[in-house]
Amino acid sequence: MRKTMLLVTATLVFLTYNLDNIYARKTPVPCYFQVKCLCIHETINSDLIIDCSRKNLSNVPDFPRNSYSIDLQHNGIQFINGEKFRNLTHLTMLDLSFNAIAGFNRSSFEGMKKLVVLKLNNNPLRFKGTSIPVDTFKPLSGLKHLGIKNIIPPIDRSKYYNIPDESLSDLKMLETVEVDILKADPFGQVYKSLIYLHTINMGKCSFYEIAVTTFRFVPYLKNLDIDISCTIRFLRNFHYGLSRLKSLSLHKLGTKYMIGGFSLIVCELMQTPIEILSFRNSFTEKTEDLSPIWNTIRHCLYNSRIGMIRITENNFAGNISKLEEPPYSLRFLNLSNNKLERFAMKLNRIRILILSDNFLGGFLHSNKYMITNKSMLEHVDLSRNIIYKLNVGLFHGQPNLKQIILGRNGLREVAFDLSQSPNLRFLDLSNNLITSLNERTMAMFENIAKISNLTIDMYNNPLSCNCGTLPFLIWMTKTRVRLLHIRHYRCVLDDGSEVTLNALKEIIYKQQKDCVSYSDILIGSTISLFIVIVLLLSALVYKYRWKLRYMFYLAKSKHYSYKASNEDGIDYSYHSFISYSDNDRSFVIKDCITNLENDGEFKLCVHQRDFLPGQDITVNITNAIHESKKNHLYNY
Ligand SMILES: *[C@@H]1O[C@H](CO)[C@@H](O)[C@H](O)[C@H]1NC(C)=O
Ligand SMILES: *[C@@H]1O[C@H](CO)[C@@H](O)[C@H](O)[C@H]1NC(C)=O
Ligand SMILES: *[C@@H]1O[C@H](CO)[C@@H](O)[C@H](O)[C@H]1NC(C)=O
Ligand SMILES: *[C@@H]1O[C@H](CO)[C@@H](O)[C@H](O)[C@H]1NC(C)=O
Ligand SMILES: *[C@@H]1O[C@H](CO)[C@@H](O)[C@H](O)[C@H]1NC(C)=O
Ligand SMILES: *[C@@H]1O[C@H](CO)[C@@H](O)[C@H](O)[C@H]1NC(C)=O
Ligand SMILES: *[C@@H]1O[C@H](CO)[C@@H](O)[C@H](O)[C@H]1NC(C)=O
Repeated sequence: MRKTMLLVTATLVFLTYNLDNIYARKTPVPCYFQVKCLCIHETINSDLIIDCSRKNLSNVPDFPRNSYSIDLQHNGIQFINGEKFRNLTHLTMLDLSFNAIAGFNRSSFEGMKKLVVLKLNNNPLRFKGTSIPVDTFKPLSGLKHLGIKNIIPPIDRSKYYNIPDESLSDLKMLETVEVDILKADPFGQVYKSLIYLHTINMGKCSFYEIAVTTFRFVPYLKNLDIDISCTIRFLRNFHYGLSRLKSLSLHKLGTKYMIGGFSLIVCELMQTPIEILSFRNSFTEKTEDLSPIWNTIRHCLYNSRIGMIRITENNFAGNISKLEEPPYSLRFLNLSNNKLERFAMKLNRIRILILSDNFLGGFLHSNKYMITNKSMLEHVDLSRNIIYKLNVGLFHGQPNLKQIILGRNGLREVAFDLSQSPNLRFLDLSNNLITSLNERTMAMFENIAKISNLTIDMYNNPLSCNCGTLPFLIWMTKTRVRLLHIRHYRCVLDDGSEVTLNALKEIIYKQQKDCVSYSDILIGSTISLFIVIVLLLSALVYKYRWKLRYMFYLAKSKHYSYKASNEDGIDYSYHSFISYSDNDRSFVIKDCITNLENDGEFKLCVHQRDFLPGQDITVNITNAIHESKKNHLYNY
């Protein structure tokens, strides 16, 4: 149990390490001895890591003495000549999988004394006759991992043999072996001498049974990986032969091949110290419901030591009926790549939950993956789930959350709440559609970063760099949140062009300038418009000043003037208002008044006589005009 915890902790550390080192890794450069290959120089002891995979090489190149790891997968190499490797005293890993190697001779592995890992999978090796002479592997005294499975069979199937047991007898340090199982009792006496062997990975097989006696010569077997498509039968009580079993992987092994049934296998595992169970590519025949499979595991292993379960790359489309709560000891659950559309479970003590590569986007829009309101979850992976929007409270009740992976979705904004996850250390938002963060989100991240060492990855989002996002751009320069790969973020400018945030400060400076001139233009044009309107109005007022004045006084007089009584029923107090200059006074008084008023019986309005004292002169004039018949033209 404690070991499982260690394993889970290690996985968590590994995940963190992995994330931190994605871009910290050195970039490979073409090798000087073979430009087709890529080399990475490890500075520590100048060891070379060489990648010559998929280079159409038919001969092994001459590698330098400091070669540490050589990958020659997927080439056309037909023969291994040990001479080529004789001087490579540092060589630790050699991968010759997927080549055309048909056989070895005694000198093939000479000089590879330091080799720890040798992979010869997927070659057309012939084990009959002289293809593996005795002592071929003798130089490999330090080898810990041998991969020699998925041997390409000859056209004549009757010449297809298992690797001879004896050839392995020299590999005393062997811990892991990958082999094909082509005979009835594949792990014979020779395995007894391989006292460190703890892992067997089975490649191809013909019809095969796993019985109580199958592993009798491999008593220390801990990990059994079956990575094949063949018919396999787990005979009842098989667990007696696997009394130290810690991990069982049944990959590519459809349930229809599990003669005896899925539940027989899983329930017998209860009798072993099993900690890790993995079904990859096992439930693919038809669309199935995850529930019965999950509930069987839960039912059979509830009180076991199971700590990790992987059920990945299967075909569980559509609806999930009720998923029962996981075994009590379970800490790690990987349900990646299963076409799941819904998922909700009591998480109990699960620390790591991987739900990547499913179709949970629609479901998580308004639901949660957790049924209880509190969990011990530390790492959740929801990448590649077609998520456009998440339930705001999705991460509530998970106070231990350290890592949230949301990469490769369609998120446009961060609208979910993380304020209840103060321990958050890593948030992966890479490869989404986020354009910027709003004030509330930035404040939320800032709050978390006060307590925890928060890192956020926003790599490959279409961030926008414009006046509106200026606060976000500025935040990126001064936040205490570590922004992973910030130099590689791309930002879309207003004109549609893209820049990287390599020189964020300059971008901000430019934006600030642009934004200032933008507001300048705005203010400037507003003022000009205002001035134009004012001028236009003044011109109009000037043009119609008299009319306006008249109208003004007219309006005013309507309020203040009294109507002179009129016996004749005529509306006018005067027949005429005489406006005159002082120079003409005597003419008005002597001639006009005398002639018109006395003789002509007209009533005139003369300002010296008829204007109301105390009244404004202008009002008097207007009243006079208004009340005089002569001016009735204006009196509309
Ligand atoms: C691979 O190499 C062979 C000769 O060694 C050559 O005939 C062939 O065209 C090459 N194939 C590719 C894809 O480069
Ligand atoms: C290995 O080293 C020896 C002596 O240092 C040298 O003679 C030989 O040519 C080298 N072999 C290869 C394949 O470089
Ligand atoms: C192994 O094969 C190579 C190449 O065919 C040959 O040069 C070498 O002499 C052979 N060694 C032995 C021990 O047969
Ligand atoms: C899934 O279940 C819901 C309600 O339980 C139902 O409406 C829907 O049709 C089901 N979908 C499928 C594919 O079975
Ligand atoms: C989960 O399973 C997927 C699919 O097999 C695999 O690619 C991924 O590495 C697994 N994740 C972890 C953390 O083991
Ligand atoms: C959590 O659930 C328990 C019972 O399941 C309930 O008593 C408690 O009030 C819930 N807490 C919150 C914060 O919802
Ligand atoms: C935060 O991270 C930095 C760099 O990764 C590290 O040096 C520092 O110790 C961390 N601080 C805490 C409190 O974890």
